[in-house]
Amino acid sequence: MSESTIGVIILAAGQGKRMKSALPKVLHSVAGRPMILHILDSVFAAFPKATVSVVVGHGREQVEQTVRQAFADREANFEFVHQAEQQGTGHAARCAMDSAWGAQVTRKKLPVLVLPGDLPLIPVSLISQTAEALGRAHCMRLLTTELAHPTGYGRVLRRGKTGPVLRIVEERDAKPREKAIKEVATSIYFFQGGFLKAALARLTNKNAQKEYYLTDVVEQAARGGKRIDVLQWADPADLRGVNDPWELAEAGTTLNHRIIRKWAIEGVRFVAPHATWIEATVELAAGVEVQPNVVLRGATRIGEGAVIKAGSVIEDSQIGARAQVGPYAHLRPGSVVGDESKIGNFVELKKARIGSKTSIAHLSYLGDAVVGSHVNIGCGFVTCNYDGKSKHVTQIEDEAFVGSDCQAVAPVTIGRGAYIASGSTITKDVEPEALAFARSRQVNKAGYARRYKGAK
Ligand code: UD1
Ligand code: CA
Repeated sequence: MSESTIGVIILAAGQGKRMKSALPKVLHSVAGRPMILHILDSVFAAFPKATVSVVVGHGREQVEQTVRQAFADREANFEFVHQAEQQGTGHAARCAMDSAWGAQVTRKKLPVLVLPGDLPLIPVSLISQTAEALGRAHCMRLLTTELAHPTGYGRVLRRGKTGPVLRIVEERDAKPREKAIKEVATSIYFFQGGFLKAALARLTNKNAQKEYYLTDVVEQAARGGKRIDVLQWADPADLRGVNDPWELAEAGTTLNHRIIRKWAIEGVRFVAPHATWIEATVELAAGVEVQPNVVLRGATRIGEGAVIKAGSVIEDSQIGARAQVGPYAHLRPGSVVGDESKIGNFVELKKARIGSKTSIAHLSYLGDAVVGSHVNIGCGFVTCNYDGKSKHVTQIEDEAFVGSDCQAVAPVTIGRGAYIASGSTITKDVEPEALAFARSRQVNKAGYARRYKGAK
């Protein structure tokens, strides 16, 4: 933390009772990524050398593990501080400032940015603007925004309508005329470290919730000799908090819309942007076409000019350039589809590597399979990859042709250029260029049909 320029406190100890879930609130995912990770992404994008204290309490092992795993290469940037009892946002910040981390920050005279763990949509620009150096006359910067429906948020009380900020009043402590105020506190602040430490020590819990409110340091600042710098953020959508499952869904919708907009500007064509779900971790090349009701998740990458047809779900998979997938295809994790291949309707892949210019056009399941290039797989092919204990690999080499309604009982290899007759159940390796039949021969008995019907 020697080169750090700012300290950052993330308040993430709360249970999030209103979520009605055992999962700690900050670990609920928005667009496939836990909320707290979105916030840390923005922090490090703005301040790569920030030293961060994450205040944890509810589900702290889970929160710590999630953060450590996601930022394994930044271990030196983090400290976790335990807030054993959740006595409020002010108490949480105090736990951080009173820790060994806080002592270092104070000794180095670093300014401190405070962020709650439940604002997953804050952009990088908001963080860099909030944490711009404070003027000499200021002890803190307060970030506010105006909401048409401010219910639930702390209201900003000013002298007169637009005069200096006096204090913040929480919804539950507010008088009716204070509730009419539309300017709200966002839970984002930037402090001169010494001021924050002293102000936290003076907080009391004389309020409706008997908690130590971080918002109350504003009143201390207003009464002291230094001024509060107020940054009014124009777009309230960036600052919507997630307190219950509906707000989580709304945040997800907003982020999804932003993700789709970003890719559209990069050259991806969306037929129905509002009926498409793309997680933050997905990468799309220019010229990709995404049709309605497509879901793209995890570490999915899609190459230039590929078409993802209606109703397809792709998770942690790679699709090559100009490939066609769907409609109604399901690519489960670990699948790779080569350039110009075709994965048709009702095809499921799981850990299947498919070469280029291969066609698997209808109603098939390929799990733990390695399929070469220029392979044709007919309708209704199934890899029997699981024997009840272990998974086994099916290999199908380049230019093989598999007729319709075949099964491959793995482990098994179908050699290069081999031809598998329709309706075969392949249990033994097929050598290259061979023709394999693995079905009973047809017997036609002349006149039997009439005799059979007569017998009934
Ligand atoms: C808080 C603000 C409110 C503001 C709103 C904006 C206070 C008292 N209120 O209210 O003015 O309008 O955010 O989103 O600050 N936390 C802890 N330890 C605790 C309590 C909370 O770590 O003891 C964490 C939570 O995990 C959460 C964050 O602090 O990430 C905010 O807490 P929350 O209960 O959501 O506060 P709000 O009611 O939203
Ligand atoms: Ca909140």
